[in-house]
Amino acid sequence: MNIADINAWLHEQNPDALEELYAMARKTRARYVGNQVHLRGRVDFSNMCRRQCTYCGIRAGNRRVVRYLMSSEEIMACAAAVQARGYGTIVLQAGEDERISAGWIADLVSTIRETYGLTVALSLGERPDSDYRLWRAHGAERYLLKFETSDTVLYRCIHPPYAKSAGNRLKMLKDLRAMGYEIGSGIMVGLPGQALASLTDDLLMFQEFDLDMIAVGPYIPHPHTPLARKFSPGKSKAPDQVANSDTMAHKVVSLVRLLCPEANIPATSALSCISKQGLRFGLHAGANVIMPDMTPPEYEALYDIYPKSRILPPINMYKNIMEIVASAGLVPGFGPGARQRNSG
Ligand code: 5AD
Repeated sequence: MNIADINAWLHEQNPDALEELYAMARKTRARYVGNQVHLRGRVDFSNMCRRQCTYCGIRAGNRRVVRYLMSSEEIMACAAAVQARGYGTIVLQAGEDERISAGWIADLVSTIRETYGLTVALSLGERPDSDYRLWRAHGAERYLLKFETSDTVLYRCIHPPYAKSAGNRLKMLKDLRAMGYEIGSGIMVGLPGQALASLTDDLLMFQEFDLDMIAVGPYIPHPHTPLARKFSPGKSKAPDQVANSDTMAHKVVSLVRLLCPEANIPATSALSCISKQGLRFGLHAGANVIMPDMTPPEYEALYDIYPKSRILPPINMYKNIMEIVASAGLVPGFGPGARQRNSG
């Protein structure tokens, strides 16, 4: 698939043609990563964040957010629940904040591994190399750091620098790989100002980085953020503006599968928040991972990065997930679900 093909698919509107794209992606998934949907329990253990990302509901500037940091005991209880469900991986996710100390995370990682034998993936934003190394030494195996968009102008625009330092996430991903992590990244689809041409670049970037995990989610406007206030629905954005629609997100999931056949690709929570069939459709488009949210409900509501529609069915319940996996003709993957190589 070359740039012209990617572009043509991104412009494609015909539902029958798109079904062909999804079918190709499913075929590629079957060939390269098989029929297992890897399950990872996600725990959003803190919404404290010093960053000002203009799209994100838990940005430091949003004073309406009640902030929390779960205790070690609470996090261990979640790890127990993840293990009880038979999931092989726990994803510890939080905002970027110095109150989340590197040593505390290191201890948590090793305790979770020793107590529950879970593979630990971390998603804690931009941290000093020394923190990444420490966590790796304590047994963390995966790190997720989204580059969000390859359009550097747009990137800078939506990520006001913290303490004058604009972290270079692509370099950080390379460094994380060199430290021995499996690396994951991803983008938002439909950011105001995101042009279709830059989405093609994002896809090529995924391929170039040979990422182990790739997450694609639609941008969901959060009313208490500068980005949503600036661009109300229908307001014109870029001339070639990417839609933040479910269809566009599904297309991108399929294209990622075709370009990066071995990657672990989640049907993301953001997808499940914009349509009833979000997770189901993610699998239909070629995804092979689901990350059920195992955050305790009282905190889950406060991890308000984007509005989560309450009318949608609860996607995190064990039996719902099993049903979604089975209805896609796939089987749940209960092991660690590491990235596979050269199996096609
Ligand atoms: N819409 C969609 N995804 C969002 N994220 C944050 N805010 C939003 C939003 N409004 C995603 C970003 C970020 C992660 C924490 O959540 O990809 O990396």
